[in-house]
Amino acid sequence: MNSIQPQHHLQFSKTFGTAPQYAAIAPGRIEFIGNHTDYNGGRVIGLAVEQGIIALGCPRTDRALRLQSLQGGGLIETTIDCREPLNGDAAWVNYPLGVIHALRQAGATIEQGFDLLFDSDLPAGAGMSSSAAIELATAMLIASACQFEASPKAFAKIARAAENDFVGVPCGILDQGVSAFGKSDHLVGIDCRTHTFNQLPLPGGLAFWIFNTGKKHSLVDSLYSKRHAECTEAFQILATTVSSNATCLSDFDATTIEAAKNALPPDLYKRARHVVTENARVDAVHAALKLEDLAAVGRCLFESHKSSREQFENSIAELDFLVDTLQQTPGVYGARLTGGGFGGAVMALTNASFAPSDASGVVSCYQEKFGHTPTLLRTKSADGARIINL
Ligand code: GLA
Repeated sequence: MNSIQPQHHLQFSKTFGTAPQYAAIAPGRIEFIGNHTDYNGGRVIGLAVEQGIIALGCPRTDRALRLQSLQGGGLIETTIDCREPLNGDAAWVNYPLGVIHALRQAGATIEQGFDLLFDSDLPAGAGMSSSAAIELATAMLIASACQFEASPKAFAKIARAAENDFVGVPCGILDQGVSAFGKSDHLVGIDCRTHTFNQLPLPGGLAFWIFNTGKKHSLVDSLYSKRHAECTEAFQILATTVSSNATCLSDFDATTIEAAKNALPPDLYKRARHVVTENARVDAVHAALKLEDLAAVGRCLFESHKSSREQFENSIAELDFLVDTLQQTPGVYGARLTGGGFGGAVMALTNASFAPSDASGVVSCYQEKFGHTPTLLRTKSADGARIINL
């Protein structure tokens, strides 16, 4: 989604009886490499994609907050003073509500309500971070209306705080950081310990594909939190047995984890090993990108998936099958699960001549094995979250 269409204005006027005064746009993201490294103070690389979310808004004279999504669900009415997360069909409103809280925490004065309309072309459930996109678009729109100035980094932190503190997901800064710092023809590299964001030029002749299984573990949210807790526990054990100067799991390297193997319960050893080796793979991708060595980049992607599958244990059979099939398909540099895991999607980096018919070949093999069809999306890089002048 990269522009506001006449139908957005029409729908806004129809729903709210007034014209929108502010608009913002924020891209979704692909986690390129760096699986579950972000909340461990590690390194990660993402891609802001051309699909995303737009928000249109108009300040009100009272404290009401009225929100509508063009993806359905009807008008939701609450207030800017709502402090409890909403449930059921209205739960998506927790992202904008969380943003209002986080903006206030960051110093914004928000004393008037808003009418807000959202539209998205991000495929639902594909793990492309529609939540971060809605947070960033809302944060920029409301900040603009309230004359609160913030840098992209501050917006990424505000959006993450909305998710951590109000929605209740203990995610890292990957999704919000990539949505805030995206740039066409670039990847976004993040050092999550120092909160340093870098735009990395993409070599030409590449394409990005998403194969979305549509499968999701019923406990996906609690499994994410469980992995988060396991990493925290592994860090605490390592901090007491190996080095009390460490501040996060990513302060350790593979040699140290091997040396401390006996101090860690087997599952925690595997989680820690995944995180530190994944950081090394992210570093290797940085180096390979500089040399435009796409074969080396691709090998890191496949190795990342193997580590997620075997050490972090957040893959599922459907994702493994897609990665294995893609590994044997000409034109594919690399592929791996993208995002939190326990279902969701595989990302493939291919050459530009990898055609829809090549992707369909992979889909047919999958269909034969699992009896349902994954959805396909070819995507490309895009600019980060921004205000659109109406
Ligand atoms: C989800 C979270 C991110 C990150 C990934 C796993 O996408 O929102 O913060 O932890 O999972 O790398």
